[in-house]
Amino acid sequence: MLNLRSSSFFLLLAVLAMASSQAVDKVITVSNGGEEGEWGPLERCPDGFKAIGFQTRNELATPFFDDTALNTIILTCNDENLTNITSTIGFSGDFQRVQLCPSAFVVAYMTSFALRVQLPFNGTDTTQGDRTAANNIRFLCSNDREINGVGNTDGVWGEYSESCTKGICGMETRVQPYDGGIGHPDNTALNDVRFTCCPE
Ligand SMILES: *[C@@H]1O[C@H](CO)[C@@H](O)[C@H](O)[C@H]1NC(C)=O
Ligand SMILES: *[C@@H]1O[C@H](CO)[C@@H](O)[C@H](O)[C@H]1NC(C)=O
Ligand SMILES: *[C@@H]1O[C@H](CO)[C@@H](O)[C@H](O)[C@H]1NC(C)=O
Repeated sequence: MLNLRSSSFFLLLAVLAMASSQAVDKVITVSNGGEEGEWGPLERCPDGFKAIGFQTRNELATPFFDDTALNTIILTCNDENLTNITSTIGFSGDFQRVQLCPSAFVVAYMTSFALRVQLPFNGTDTTQGDRTAANNIRFLCSNDREINGVGNTDGVWGEYSESCTKGICGMETRVQPYDGGIGHPDNTALNDVRFTCCPE
């Protein structure tokens, strides 16, 4: 017969088993992101909701100025408020149009992404020019349609990330903070981004 002490021990085991079976949500990444700046906070759509569209803020090419290209990514969640999430935001540029996964009868949501990145500057030769790191982002939707940022065109597109079966529920961005104007290090703003998949 179980006494109180051993039954509470089994209860504890059951709770631990439940906690460990609650899988950590998958995170999707790409390998061509930049490496400047710190990772920002994980922001998530409200519980039970996922990302169905995005908007970017880009500094479009301005000759003779320190360009930073992609600065900010805003994800639109499919809750009743169409909540926006951002993680760390950049500091300059113009907001581009909102792009939603094209949906007909079922709501389509984003499942994977690719980044367009200007190759990193890797020397001390400052004549190598104005670095901008991430320039643009594009997503694949659950209905295989692609939504493509109205962004900058320096650099090259990297490979698509792995896919989130149930969609994208969270975002972290890596943004180099503004480091001053003329005579200061070259600003690049958004360098990299990673997304947390919705629970499976
Ligand atoms: C939507 O906004 C209302 C009013 O601010 C709030 O009460 C509600 O919790 C929000 N819904 C979600 C899913 O965040
Ligand atoms: C989310 O961003 C869009 C596009 O900028 C804006 O129109 C909308 O008002 C924002 N929604 C909220 C809840 O702030
Ligand atoms: C620097 O970049 C060049 C051109 O992309 C590349 O060939 C070289 O291997 C890089 N060097 C280092 C140290 O990363």
